Amino acid sequence: ALAEAGAKAAAAADAAAVEQIRIDYLGRNGLFPALSKEMGSVPPEERKDTGRAFNTGRNKVQELIDAATARLASADGGSGEAIDLSLPGRRWKTGRKHPITMLADECVAIFRRMGFIVAEGPEIEDIFHNFDALNTPQDHPSRDPQDTFYFNDGRILRTQTSPVQIRVMESHEPPVRIVAPGRVFRRDTPDATHGMNFHQIEGLYIDKGVSMADLKSILQTFATEMYGPKVKIRLRPHFFPFTEPSVEYDFSCIMCGGKGCPVCKHSGWIEIAGAGMVDPAVLKNVGYDPEVWSGYAFGMGIERLAMLRYRIPDLRLLYENDVRFLEQF
Ligand code: PHE
Repeated sequence: ALAEAGAKAAAAADAAAVEQIRIDYLGRNGLFPALSKEMGSVPPEERKDTGRAFNTGRNKVQELIDAATARLASADGGSGEAIDLSLPGRRWKTGRKHPITMLADECVAIFRRMGFIVAEGPEIEDIFHNFDALNTPQDHPSRDPQDTFYFNDGRILRTQTSPVQIRVMESHEPPVRIVAPGRVFRRDTPDATHGMNFHQIEGLYIDKGVSMADLKSILQTFATEMYGPKVKIRLRPHFFPFTEPSVEYDFSCIMCGGKGCPVCKHSGWIEIAGAGMVDPAVLKNVGYDPEVWSGYAFGMGIERLAMLRYRIPDLRLLYENDVRFLEQF
């Protein structure tokens, strides 16, 4: 009986099997209690040896049970239950790029293919680079502390990526061909299409004989690379202190095919940003000869590009960091 109990204990695959061994041998109707009842019929001179054998056997079974329990516990981390190796594993939650980062990376990749290189500038900028060198008059409304975040030392949070144009031209001889993605800050009241900080990608191309036609073609090429052959662009006359002539430009809303939807506020177009031919005054400020060099500049809102790409009707969704939203990208 002991050999049998030992074999069963060694084979026991789970806690229930071990419990069954305990019931069969030590339980109320098990083998050892039954043997114990028969003790009375053992002749007195044999009782001592029989009793000792009985105790040894019962202890041995208890040891087998303890050993089997310990073996099972160590195999499954102590929960007392066996591991089911056929269960599917738990999925790791992996992080991923934020949609704004993905869009910025995509823009950069498109412009790099067209020969632009990436430049960067500081988010805390001085008045000279953000306004003065960009030909912005002293009384221009964008300088107003109502619109721009000022530090006590007179520096500001840059309101646009255009100061990177100045930094690049100050430190490089023409020709230049750069894009500069980055975060910008304005004291706007946040709503569905405006935030206190947002992202732009700036472009600047300075060479001999650059024209408005070059600007238009680069914007259309970018739009097509980004959104496919159906997207149209539209330039509207505008004013910027640092470009002349200046335009604002829109992409047709591919989300609704121009019929109107929340993304384009039912107009069929979404405003992407501003552009124009670099003003000769700006070229002079950085020591480039405007008689020799000309060029274009553009700035795009990356949030707007993301809204158009992913049908996001409200850009505040991009900043709430709700995992249910971010998981979709
Ligand atoms: N900096 C402008 C803005 O933020 C956009 C722009 C960039 C316009 C380059 C012209 C040229 O609105």
